[in-house]
Amino acid sequence: MRLFDTHAHYDSGAFNADRLEVLASMPERGVELILNPGCDLESSRTAVALAERFPFVYAAVGVHPSDCGDWEDSWLEELRALAAHRRVRAIGEIGLDYYWKDNPPRDFQQQVFHRQMELARELGLPVIIHDREAHQDCLSIVREHPQVTGVYHCYSGSLEDAKVLVRLGWMISFTGVVTYKNARRALEVIDWLPMDRIMIETDSPYLTPEPFRGERNDSGKVYRVAQTIADIKGLDVEDVARITLENGKRFFQIETGKEEDR
Ligand code: NI
Repeated sequence: MRLFDTHAHYDSGAFNADRLEVLASMPERGVELILNPGCDLESSRTAVALAERFPFVYAAVGVHPSDCGDWEDSWLEELRALAAHRRVRAIGEIGLDYYWKDNPPRDFQQQVFHRQMELARELGLPVIIHDREAHQDCLSIVREHPQVTGVYHCYSGSLEDAKVLVRLGWMISFTGVVTYKNARRALEVIDWLPMDRIMIETDSPYLTPEPFRGERNDSGKVYRVAQTIADIKGLDVEDVARITLENGKRFFQIETGKEEDR
């Protein structure tokens, strides 16, 4: 199988002991491509460094809503400079997170989200959206930036919102959460979604799929997400792997073997 894990955090401290070994093992585990998004300036820099080191790793740069408390608009300069790197293919992950009580205030998260949507438009890059318990506000900000498209990562919204996003030209991405018992709503969304709008991801080191829950997650487990989608769609897992790989390559403008051409 050849898989594209479109969202994994190898800059995370959870990989401090064996980061390079784990990444180096991915091609032989069937993982053809990995996109490592940033969550703050430092993790964005690390994402770019990993993408420089491994030919199958690409990066996104951005500031996560949970990590935006110290945001200053001068950070845009640094993100712009990082985004100029040839292996950076998106702005992310950005968005809103109303779940954690001690996250930055909602209106501040929204401001930072707007700034980064504007940056994406200016640079002509897609965005990677994190939306946790903020569906309405997130979608209304997305609608305020009609020239920007992107992907909703670890989709947790409704079927109605998914239909809106597809109409707006967006992609929707799923993690190992779809293998959990309480995943009913995501499965309903997958059942409806056109195959050309689906991407798969691990969100490593988090959200480890069944039957590996409790272990640290890594891209080698992304086939479990492909398998779950295949079961719902009545497709072969190989086909889901191939289609989601193609979708990810198209979305992030990756031409294998020609990654210098951006
Ligand atoms: Ni993430």
